Amino acid sequence: MSNTLTIALSKGRIFKETLPLLAHAGIVPVDDPETSRKLILDTNQADVKLVIIRASDVPTYVQYGAADLGVAGKDVLMEHGGEGLYEPVDLNIARCKLMVAGPVGGGAEPERMRIATKYVHTTRRYYAERGRQVEIIKLYGSMELAPLVGLADRIVDVVDTGNTLKANGLEPLEHIADISSRLVVNKASMKMKHERVKEFIDRIAEAVGRSD
Ligand code: ATP
Ligand code: PRP
Repeated sequence: MSNTLTIALSKGRIFKETLPLLAHAGIVPVDDPETSRKLILDTNQADVKLVIIRASDVPTYVQYGAADLGVAGKDVLMEHGGEGLYEPVDLNIARCKLMVAGPVGGGAEPERMRIATKYVHTTRRYYAERGRQVEIIKLYGSMELAPLVGLADRIVDVVDTGNTLKANGLEPLEHIADISSRLVVNKASMKMKHERVKEFIDRIAEAVGRSD
């Protein structure tokens, strides 16, 4: 096993909100993923690399050890299942809620609801726990459109300000889970690179507790 630490991050809000935490651990990326086409970014530390991937792929890279560590939303981790991962730190970033939503004043639920979502497993589990039979339609984004065009009766998606729901005539109906991003660690890396990984986790946890 090499002594390089590889950290998986997604572009956008997770990258931006993780940067100050990495800086506290003494890690500063050399390139900006928003402008660079590189998928492996060097950092100021020769033995720390960042891999830039889709948010929903982070648990998979870390599970298989292609990255030692990563940052992923709890929504993504719930959907993945968390196999092969430790989840040692709640980073308290990218906070939102996973909700069921539907048309404003939509009235009674149909007998067999159709739910559009990218969170298929989480949605299936949620309704199964409540003994409700639903049909789940897998989408990859823009879930809010589905009820407007008759594709689904409800959606399951993350909600922050509620502006996206509102702009599309939808309202939150049921709260499934509070979401924030978590530091995840490959189980083998935790053993094999224990000292380095542990030190990194400690620095990140320390940074989460600070307000600057
Ligand atoms: P993918 O590219 O894999 O489809 P994505 O487009 O959902 O992922 P982002 O929009 O960057 O990726 O979201 C990353 C994480 O940030 C989500 O998994 C969720 O935990 C959180 N998140 C998503 N939307 C919001 C929001 N509006 N406000 C706060 N946090 C959010
Ligand atoms: C996310 C999510 C919702 C929206 C909710 O989309 O999929 O559509 O944020 O946020 P709000 O309640 O504050 O409106 P995002 O903006 O990340 O775009 P995406 O579809 O590219 O993920």
